[in-house]
Amino acid sequence: MSGPLHTPLCDKLDIEYPVVAFTHCKDVAVAVINAGGFAVLGEAMHMPDQIAADIKWIRDRIGGKRFGIDLVLPSSVPAEKTVDELLAMIPAGHREFEQKIKKKYNVPDPKTAPDIHHWGGLDQKRALQQLEVVFDERVPVFASGLGSPAFLLERAHQLGMQVWGLVGKPRQAKKLIGIGADGVIAQGFDAAGHTGDIGTFSIVPQVVDLARGTKTSVLAAGGVTTGRHLAAALALGADGVWTGSLWLTSRESDVNLPLKERLLEAETEDAVWSNCISGYTMRTTRSPWHDEWLSAEAPDVLKPPLQMILSSNYIQGSLDYQRKDLMTEAAGQGIHYVKEMKPARQILSDIIEEALDVFDRFAAKG
Ligand SMILES: Cc1cc2nc3c(=O)[nH]c(=O)nc-3n(C[C@H](O)[C@H](O)[C@H](O)COP(=O)(O)O)c2cc1C
Repeated sequence: MSGPLHTPLCDKLDIEYPVVAFTHCKDVAVAVINAGGFAVLGEAMHMPDQIAADIKWIRDRIGGKRFGIDLVLPSSVPAEKTVDELLAMIPAGHREFEQKIKKKYNVPDPKTAPDIHHWGGLDQKRALQQLEVVFDERVPVFASGLGSPAFLLERAHQLGMQVWGLVGKPRQAKKLIGIGADGVIAQGFDAAGHTGDIGTFSIVPQVVDLARGTKTSVLAAGGVTTGRHLAAALALGADGVWTGSLWLTSRESDVNLPLKERLLEAETEDAVWSNCISGYTMRTTRSPWHDEWLSAEAPDVLKPPLQMILSSNYIQGSLDYQRKDLMTEAAGQGIHYVKEMKPARQILSDIIEEALDVFDRFAAKG
C-alpha cells in the first residue's frame, strides 16, 4: 500500500494504517489490529498470570499479527511494599479527608478490592514481575507508560522485541532516542492519563527533530480523536498517532455503561489536569473527588503511590455501584469529538477517511 498515510511505521509493524490504539480492553485491541491498525494493551493493573492469559487470548484472535503490551516502571516508588503497608503510610489527616468526601457524597464502599492494588506503579517488585511475562512471551512491542525502559532495552532487543516509551519532555525523548529505542510516543498536555505540561503541538515537532536520521519512530499522542488530528500529526513529522480516549466508548470497550455515557457527554473542559488521583499530574474527567481536592481544607496531595491508594476506594465504589455522579476516568481534551458509540473498526475507518480527505484537499489546491 502507498499514499499519504503509509509511513515507515506501517512497514515497521506490518500494519495498514499508522494508528495505534492504547486500550485496557482486549476486545478493542483485537478489533483495531484486525482492522489494519495497531494496538497496545495496558496491563499495568494485572497480575502476571492474567497478563499471560490476555496475551494468549489476543494471539488466538489476530492470526500472527503483531501487538504490544504497556506497563509502568516508575523508579520513584518503593522497592517492595504490600497494599497494607502502603495504607499504613497514609497520614491520619488524609484518611479523615477521604472519609469526609465519602460521607458528603454518600460514596459506597467498593464490593471488590480496587484493581489498583495490582498496579505496577505501587512498587518496583510488582512492575518487574509483570515485565517478566512480557519477556517470557516475547511480546512484539513493549511500551513503558511511566519511567524509562532503558534498563531493559538490550534484553528486549536480544529477544527480537521492540521497546517504546511515552515521554512528555524533549529531554526524556533525547535519552530514549540516544539509547536506540524503537519508538517514542511524544505525548502532549491534551492527553488522557499521566501527562506533562507541554502541548501536543509543541512537543511533537521537537521530538521529530531529535529523532531525525535515527531508527526511532515518533508517535504523536494527546488529543488525537479525528482524522484531522491524524493528518496534522503526520504534517508535524510524526510517523503515526497513539490514541487512548478514542476507544473508551467503542462498542467493544468493557468500560461500564454509565461511565461510557459520562464520557460521551464530556466536553474538553471536563477533562481536567490534576494530581489528586495518583499523585502524578494526570488528565481525568472532573468528579466530586477533584472538586474536594481543590477546596481550601484539602491537605497536600500525597506522593506516588500513596495518593493512588487513597483515591482507589472512591473510584472502585463509584464503579461497583454505577454511580455516574461520582465516576471519573482518564480522558483527553479531544474527548469533545467522541460523541457516538461505534465499533472500533468504524472508528478507525472514519479517522482514515477524514485524514485522506484532508490530504486530497491539499492535493487539489496544489
Ligand atoms: C482510560 C485510560 C487509561 C490509561 N492508562 C494508561 C496506562 O496504564 N499506561 C499508559 O502508558 N498510558 C495510559 N493512558 C494514556 C494513553 O496511553 C495515551 O497516551 C493517551 O490516552 C493519549 O491521549 P488521548 O487520550 O487524548 O488520545 C491511558 C489513557 C486512558 C484514556
